[in-house]
Amino acid sequence: MSKDVEPIRSVKGMRDLLPPETWLWQRVEEEARQVFHAYNFDEIRTPILEPTALFTRSVGADTDIVTKEMYTFCDRGEESLTLRPEATASVVRAYTEHALYNRGGIHKFYYLGPMFRRDRPQKGRYRQFYQIGAEVLGSDHPSIDAEGIELVALLLDRVGIRQYTLFINSVGCPNCRAEYVRVLRQALRGVAAQMCADCQRRAETNPLRVLDCKVPGDQPLIERLPHIIDYLDAECRHHFDRVTQQLRERGVAYTINPRLVRGLDYYTRTTFEVTSGVLGAQNSLLGGGRYDGLSEMIGGPAAPGFGFAIGQDRLVLAVEAAGQLKVECPLEVYVAWMGDGALAPAGELARQLRRSGQRVEIAYQPLKLKRSLAIANKLGARFVVIIGEGELASGRYQVKDMTTGEQEAVERAEIERYLQAKREEAAPSET
Ligand code: HAM
Repeated sequence: MSKDVEPIRSVKGMRDLLPPETWLWQRVEEEARQVFHAYNFDEIRTPILEPTALFTRSVGADTDIVTKEMYTFCDRGEESLTLRPEATASVVRAYTEHALYNRGGIHKFYYLGPMFRRDRPQKGRYRQFYQIGAEVLGSDHPSIDAEGIELVALLLDRVGIRQYTLFINSVGCPNCRAEYVRVLRQALRGVAAQMCADCQRRAETNPLRVLDCKVPGDQPLIERLPHIIDYLDAECRHHFDRVTQQLRERGVAYTINPRLVRGLDYYTRTTFEVTSGVLGAQNSLLGGGRYDGLSEMIGGPAAPGFGFAIGQDRLVLAVEAAGQLKVECPLEVYVAWMGDGALAPAGELARQLRRSGQRVEIAYQPLKLKRSLAIANKLGARFVVIIGEGELASGRYQVKDMTTGEQEAVERAEIERYLQAKREEAAPSET
């Protein structure tokens, strides 16, 4: 490192994901893609930058995300842009922009990717973090909510997470919420003065957001506030009862949490969240709900929707803690060659094995056999193929099994089959 030049480090709260951790990230993504596929979801990829108004209008101008956490900048004096803090608004924007509603039916999308929130970094909370999410657009049927939550339960099971709590609530619709907000505002009038500055402001501007407050001193006061679930109108109540009934029928355990309003303004009716004790302070593993009015908020047609997002950083932490999902990406073959004449045939063998999908490494320069074996050992290679002058002359290469130490001379043409047979011997169930 240069003494004179200050080394450049990554931005605070934004981290590098390195191997072998990225193996686990990929594995979790594979499981998610398989589960989404099974439930007939298709992938959607939306831009990371969006017009700022997309989030102020949907997530809500009074939310923590919009007031404190967005990375917003003016694009060379032209337009206010924001690094997406979440993707639901983007998916609904894309749905409207491409008039997908004209095609009729229900649209089921999933996405994976980075989100940005300028929160205080700590374990499980980053300024660039990743979500695995899904959105279903075009129906307000309670079966959609129940199926989405069932999907979440299956995905958690597939990655080995069994210890968690699924909380559910209903935040009603604008119709019943008006009455609740009136009652809440009244209740807050007596106590707001004893609460944090944010709550004092929100008690006036957007009282529902008081329920998201995390300030410890405010909690006893918040616990005593009225519950939205007691103010649902008949249709919202019916929707909630149908969702919970279906969850029971589907064998998904849940706990009703009347305080669960979630920190985004677009929710209507169902809200849900999964928390896990292994995550520490940032215990929310995933969250979601229904958002039947979001499309109209951003200038689209009526398009009821339901979705969720899993925090992938936290999911990986929980997967590691559960220890059920084992991920290994061992090097299968190391090709060791000695003498310039061996480079081309060694390269040809490596190419052949790589084309058949095996993970192969080859020395880039001539090395002594001892050194090659040491490197192969360090890389964790299962086999080493040794090609020197003698092997070239006989047409039989030495194949060393690094787990047993056994070595055999194998006809060049037979090597791929030989390695395949050895692998099958070691793991007969995988073939
Ligand atoms: P959210 O609750 O804001 O919902 O985020 C979902 C998940 O993202 C959280 O449960 C958490 O695991 C993860 N997460 C949030 N912030 C951070 C952070 N700073 N660092 C690490 N992980 C984080 C939404 O984003 C909604 N769009 C979910 C949704 C989809 N609702 C309907 N459709």
